[in-house]
Amino acid sequence: MSSKILIIGACGQIGTELTIKLREIHGVDNVIASDINTRNLDLVNAGPFVILDAKNFNAIKDCCINHKIDTVYLMAALLSATGEKYPMEAWDLNMNSLFHVLNLAKSKQIKKVFWPSSIAVFGPSTPRTQTPQHTICEPTTVYGITKQVGERWCEYYHEKYGVDVRSIRYPGIISHKAMPGGGTTDYAVEIYHEAIKEGKYESFLSENTHLPMMFMDDAIKATTEIMAANSEHLSIRSSYNLSAISFSPKEIAESIQAEMPNFKITFKPDFRQAIADSWPSSIDDSVARKDWNWSHDFNLHTMTKVMLRELAKTYKS
Ligand code: SER
Repeated sequence: MSSKILIIGACGQIGTELTIKLREIHGVDNVIASDINTRNLDLVNAGPFVILDAKNFNAIKDCCINHKIDTVYLMAALLSATGEKYPMEAWDLNMNSLFHVLNLAKSKQIKKVFWPSSIAVFGPSTPRTQTPQHTICEPTTVYGITKQVGERWCEYYHEKYGVDVRSIRYPGIISHKAMPGGGTTDYAVEIYHEAIKEGKYESFLSENTHLPMMFMDDAIKATTEIMAANSEHLSIRSSYNLSAISFSPKEIAESIQAEMPNFKITFKPDFRQAIADSWPSSIDDSVARKDWNWSHDFNLHTMTKVMLRELAKTYKS
């Protein structure tokens, strides 16, 4: 029998493309998209959609019963920069939504859970380059704290209650469909939009701030692959390190200049610089590569070509 899936937070940056991919794999009617509002009308009109508040346990439970859901992808979250502005709201949304979904799995209402963690679980005391899977995690952002604690709970629910929860620590994700919102790595998406629209960009991170990043196609591939992996092969039930590329604002600007020689970049770091400075510059994801054969396809150059091509089409139409 085909899997029946609920995506919570489907209108967000990753949720939008994950919904499209999962519908390709499992069929449109087997993937219920949900979000707190209908902000992404293309997504809302593309297949089954319900309004759902990720903080409302009964609403999630009723939705799972009504649609006979067996697998939930919990993509709703307040990200790092927004979390610093609204700490209690970030804690409330990020933690309670996770408990709701884990508890549904514990009570066998659903069988499988995907929950994203982040490079934000790391902090200033973490080794910055090729950060290992198992290392010091002392996050200094509210978002990072919610992800670190969430990882502990995922492992706990797996060990104590046999919950099949799977997770990856996403790096900054770059995409051309839905915009990211409230993250520290968002500059690496904005820069392409501004390159096409204005031919210039002012970066809110300094020129040599290297962060782990990934093109959306690779992030979606990782997500569908870890969910399809044989459960026995998964040695990590907190969250897997995941890596593809690492670059600085200066380097992404140079990759754009290779395609658009007149593109100009300036630098004006704001409060997000301190967040970026607390995160690793590159990640060792050898455990993911070994356990479920993870590998990435896109490098900075190939990603830049696709981003500029697709956004040029978007702004033309
Ligand atoms: N992209 C996220 C952020 O910047 C990191 O997980 O908050």
